[in-house]
Amino acid sequence: MSHYSSTARALHWLIAGLIVSQFALAELAKIARADEALLKQLALLANHKSIGITILGLAIFRLLYRWRHPVPSLPKHMPSWQTRASHLSHFLLYFLLFAMPLTGWLMSSAKAYSVSWFSLFTLPDFVAPNQGLAALMVDTHYYLGKALLIIAAVHVAAALKHHFVDRDNVLTRMTARWGIPIFVLVAIMSTWAFSQITRTANPSTTPSTTPSTTSQNSATSSSALEKLGVATSSLPIWNIDYAASSIRFSGDQAGAPFSGEWKDWQANLQFDSTRLNESRFDVKVDTRTPFSNDKERDDTIRSADFFDSENFSQARFLAHQFVATKAGFQAQGTLSMKGISHPLNFDFTITKLANKSELNGSATIDRLLWNIGTGDWSSTDWVGQNVSLKVTVATQ
Ligand code: HEM
Repeated sequence: MSHYSSTARALHWLIAGLIVSQFALAELAKIARADEALLKQLALLANHKSIGITILGLAIFRLLYRWRHPVPSLPKHMPSWQTRASHLSHFLLYFLLFAMPLTGWLMSSAKAYSVSWFSLFTLPDFVAPNQGLAALMVDTHYYLGKALLIIAAVHVAAALKHHFVDRDNVLTRMTARWGIPIFVLVAIMSTWAFSQITRTANPSTTPSTTPSTTSQNSATSSSALEKLGVATSSLPIWNIDYAASSIRFSGDQAGAPFSGEWKDWQANLQFDSTRLNESRFDVKVDTRTPFSNDKERDDTIRSADFFDSENFSQARFLAHQFVATKAGFQAQGTLSMKGISHPLNFDFTITKLANKSELNGSATIDRLLWNIGTGDWSSTDWVGQNVSLKVTVATQ
């Protein structure tokens, strides 16, 4: 056998082209981060991850294919050290074809970013969020990338030496017929990936979702239920066990789910299922305290485009109307964030265990109604419009 099969050649050039675009996307993402163009960085990394997972799939396929279709043997005139070097560099290239995507995937999972494949489906999380592991994987991914660059450079140099100095067929047996069309295909794919970025970076292509200013009234100017003319309640205030309670949020970023929680919040809950008209909720969240296992995302959540935590450090939910539902209860109240108030219904159930109570509830928030995500971020291409809240409040 003097040539690689057309499948082997197609895979070689496809993977090579995708790896080139991986380095380009990673570099552009770094530039976007330096420019504080966070949305652009997110878009670039989303494409980087999808292409990386594609490379992993192709590498698995290539190995299985190679097992069934042995590669053509090297020219007889080659000294044995060159044969050994060639085998070693091919082994290392295969190793890196697996190690790069796997460390990237591990890094993303450890940072609590799920990985989606071109927003078509979400891969399972490799590991639970873990900041130490995330930092280790950032470094490992970085150094393996440098190793890949060096070995790929040696690989290219050796192929060129065979072609121009030794004048043997080592390069042509891989390039014949399919090399150029595959490169063209990869170029088209990369162009498509970059056009995704241009689309999100141009807000004029996305619908305007600025909320009406008439909604900036009601509870915004009021600091408590009493100011709304709501009678104080004689129901006891829940004695909350904050260590066993949480306010978690989850949403969709670049087609993949993310989640986190508010670390600092305070709730005044007065609730009795038999005295719904006297029940009251007053929940205050410190918007400076998001925690999603990723400092960069937490900074973005606090930034002026999102919660503008510097100017609006408090989000508040006030409810004094309660109804019984099929599953439990619904608190019908007002959520105020960023100086904007809108009605919000919060569905919940109450479980009683000995003399303790536990409330479990959820609500869906259309973030754009509260101006959470302005400018480019108002596009729902990269951050979903709806954010889910899951609340657990346990008494002591
Ligand atoms: C063959 C596949 C891959 C190659 C060649 C590759 C290459 C690279 C390179 C060169 C960088 C820049 C490192 C630096 O200079 O700081 C990078 C960054 C990154 N890669 Fe990959 N990568 C691959 C697959 C993946 C996959 C599959 C994922 C996730 C699922 C991923 C996630 C990331 C992330 C999140 C960063 C940014 C790291 C940071 O600075 O926070 N990569 N990648």
